[in-house]
Amino acid sequence: MFVFILILIIFSSSFVNGADQNTCTPNSIQKNTSTILSNLRREMQNEGIGIYVIFSDDEHGSEYTQLYDRRRDWITGFSGSAGIAVVSLRTAALWTDSRYFTQAEEQLDCANWLLMRDRNPGVPTLINWLVSEANQTALPPGTTTVFTTTSWWTSANTALKEIGKELRPVNDLVDRIWPAGERPNQSQNSIVTHEIQYAGETVAQKLNRTTNEIKRRGATTTVINALDEIAWLFNLRGSDIPYNPFFKSYAIVHANYEVNQPELFVNLSQLNTNQHPPGVRLFDYSMFWSRLNITATDTNISRIWVSAKVSQAILSLIPNNKLLLPLSNSPVQRIKARKNPIERKGMQDCQIRDSIARMKHLGWLEQQLNDGKSVNETQSSEQLLVYQKQQVIFQFPSFRTISASGDRAAIIHYSATPDKARLITKNEVYLLDAGSQYLDCTTDITRTHHFGSPKNLEKRAYTRVLQGVLDIADAVFPTGTYGRSLDHLGRMHLYRDGMTFGHGIGHGIGHFLSVHEGPQRIASAYSQYEEALADEMFISNEPGFYKPDDFGIRIEDDIEVVLANKSTYDNTQYLRFNTITLLPYERSLIDVTLLTNAQLNTINQYHTKVAQVLEPLLSGDEAALNALRSRTARIDLPSTTTSNSPSSTTTSNSPSSTTTSNSPSSTTTSNSPSSATTSNPPSSTTTSTSPNRAFMSISSPSLITFVLILIHLF
Ligand SMILES: *[C@@H]1O[C@H](CO)[C@@H](O)[C@H](O)[C@H]1NC(C)=O
Ligand SMILES: *[C@@H]1O[C@H](CO)[C@@H](O)[C@H](O)[C@H]1NC(C)=O
Ligand SMILES: *[C@@H]1O[C@H](CO)[C@@H](O)[C@H](O)[C@H]1NC(C)=O
Ligand SMILES: *[C@@H]1O[C@H](CO)[C@@H](O)[C@H](O)[C@H]1NC(C)=O
Ligand SMILES: *[C@@H]1O[C@H](CO)[C@@H](O)[C@H](O)[C@H]1NC(C)=O
Ligand SMILES: *[C@@H]1O[C@H](CO)[C@@H](O)[C@H](O)[C@H]1NC(C)=O
Ligand SMILES: *[C@@H]1O[C@H](CO)[C@@H](O)[C@H](O)[C@H]1NC(C)=O
Ligand SMILES: *[C@@H]1O[C@H](CO)[C@@H](O)[C@H](O)[C@H]1NC(C)=O
Ligand SMILES: *[C@@H]1O[C@H](CO)[C@@H](O)[C@H](O)[C@H]1NC(C)=O
Repeated sequence: MFVFILILIIFSSSFVNGADQNTCTPNSIQKNTSTILSNLRREMQNEGIGIYVIFSDDEHGSEYTQLYDRRRDWITGFSGSAGIAVVSLRTAALWTDSRYFTQAEEQLDCANWLLMRDRNPGVPTLINWLVSEANQTALPPGTTTVFTTTSWWTSANTALKEIGKELRPVNDLVDRIWPAGERPNQSQNSIVTHEIQYAGETVAQKLNRTTNEIKRRGATTTVINALDEIAWLFNLRGSDIPYNPFFKSYAIVHANYEVNQPELFVNLSQLNTNQHPPGVRLFDYSMFWSRLNITATDTNISRIWVSAKVSQAILSLIPNNKLLLPLSNSPVQRIKARKNPIERKGMQDCQIRDSIARMKHLGWLEQQLNDGKSVNETQSSEQLLVYQKQQVIFQFPSFRTISASGDRAAIIHYSATPDKARLITKNEVYLLDAGSQYLDCTTDITRTHHFGSPKNLEKRAYTRVLQGVLDIADAVFPTGTYGRSLDHLGRMHLYRDGMTFGHGIGHGIGHFLSVHEGPQRIASAYSQYEEALADEMFISNEPGFYKPDDFGIRIEDDIEVVLANKSTYDNTQYLRFNTITLLPYERSLIDVTLLTNAQLNTINQYHTKVAQVLEPLLSGDEAALNALRSRTARIDLPSTTTSNSPSSTTTSNSPSSTTTSNSPSSTTTSNSPSSATTSNPPSSTTTSTSPNRAFMSISSPSLITFVLILIHLF
């Protein structure tokens, strides 16, 4: 599942309209927001602001928020995870990205709201629109700074400065108008200790490592608002945020933590006294702001390190001369990302449990289809949960399962709803992207299946994606390498066929924390907050290919960064990956003729290992064993390709690379089945063999234009 999204926006001639200027007629799903808006505007005027911006974030910049915090959803009626609402005294608009256009068209109260299809031609950016509205409004614009990121605040203010305006911080106005009877209750479940047998390290050890880092940078104190960092640092877990074992909290940690003990802010009635972490001063959650103010004005505290992701509310309380600048990642993030030995063992062990659940589910699904019973996407994900729950110390899914059949698999962030769930059939691909939270780890695994005879293009795309997975897993690189330098390895084989995909290849994975964590990642775009890969980190390896309205492929393994050898030349430490996921690939979707000999060997070795580990653990479940055995049986080269098999050729990785311009193997004669073109795919004018059809249809500019946009969702 993804976090860094290169969104593929597809414009066809019927879909180039810009902002939706009230062309809709309200439907029955759409909520009538007239009263909400008039109440909000009344509060805005009371506060002396003319425009109010409502984000979907909670106070902690959480990836998932609890229902109580879904202010933007309630104000607009739109429930997609990404969207920002702007209400002025005369109009209201919602910005969302292409993943959510359809959902927003359905849900947004179009009598009162403009739908701003972000990055479509003719659609103003939120900040440009804010400036032009503010230019015509006497009262200043405002936001609630606990929900506003410092980076947004800074860019908006920079733009507003040109018209002589400035954002005004205001209290949470939605809070004032959301009737208690309509608002979901806050989730405030018990907070419990994350036992040392799973955590592998005491709070004191973690504080020591964190404060060493703080001292190294010359800071005296850090202020933390990220919920995963607090849960990790204090060995505590909660259950207030969907898919994440988190509880709302802040922390202030001083470099001299043994004398000046760290301050932890939680709802004290959620934390039983016998669960109090040792050596920590506890305060009620509501005390955070006054304690932060005291910290910020304490003359003994000279340098405060905050993450670039803290809210503007926090930043605004810290005098500029006390900030560690430039803002960077929190000191906890990198330490947490490099797992200790117990955490690493947990991450590896639970992959086996998760794979057992996945194989039992796969066996069940295959059995249903063979028996002619129909299974829809929702039912399939519900059944997966049944098997996940059978695994020891399973807690809950780590994100909403993506269970997608046929053309739905092409929708990257698809989430099936029971009433519209599609059937899983033997004639189409089935993509299952699911993850678990166990007490000893977090997982995130994707497999794309086919239960009948896949089309050539599906096989070709699957194999190209798989080659990317294998080449990433096979990478060797010196310490200090950033994930962005490896991204190409996951796409190179797809590129040979003119294919690519609109998301990153890898995100860090937490340890019974968030399924997405930094500071490492594998994605091509530059981010100033990306940090180099290091041993003991875990990351996903998930290339894909999506052909809209037809099919989608994604394969995702979880991998661990481990030490390779040191260079015998200059003693540089090298790193490599270790794939920890143990789940077979889909044999029926593999086009062996595209693989190099080395790739084929890797698959066979992997399947041997998967079978060895899982077979004994699945005994008694014939359906699961069948599903396992049929997929892990040795794959041989087809006899018809003896003369042009990958093993017969060169050292080049590319049996299918046949162009003279882009392949080191160009001087060899390759007879591989895909060697149809004699030029680079983009300029190919040759009679196309079936493998090239995919590229031709996608590249045809008269039909579709692809625009690649980087959205940094963190
Ligand atoms: C929405 O509610 C307002 C106030 O209750 C009402 O005047 C208006 O007619 C409603 N709009 C629609 C489309 O039902
Ligand atoms: C702001 O309004 C003034 C006066 O109407 C206009 O001249 C100016 O171009 C506007 N500026 C922007 C940035 O819209
Ligand atoms: C919210 O809490 C109140 C009391 O604190 C309770 O009466 C009410 O039923 C709860 N609402 C929901 C939706 O759980
Ligand atoms: C804290 O870390 C330092 C540096 O790694 C180490 O020397 C020291 O023993 C540690 N102290 C404790 C109490 O763990
Ligand atoms: C703290 O949590 C308890 C439930 O554990 C809840 O009843 C109480 O209202 C919460 N207090 C605050 C200030 O939110
Ligand atoms: C912070 O403390 C100072 C005095 O120490 C006080 O003037 C100011 O109002 C406080 N700010 C907040 C937001 O509490
Ligand atoms: C600053 O440190 C000194 C000496 O350690 C101490 O006496 C003083 O109380 C501290 N000041 C504050 C505001 O904590
Ligand atoms: C899909 O299956 C679920 C669970 O069995 C069921 O509730 C739902 O109605 C089904 N959806 C459709 C469209 O048939
Ligand atoms: C490391 O070096 C040893 C001995 O030189 C060699 O056998 C081994 O294959 C190397 N390991 C890797 C991962 O390159």
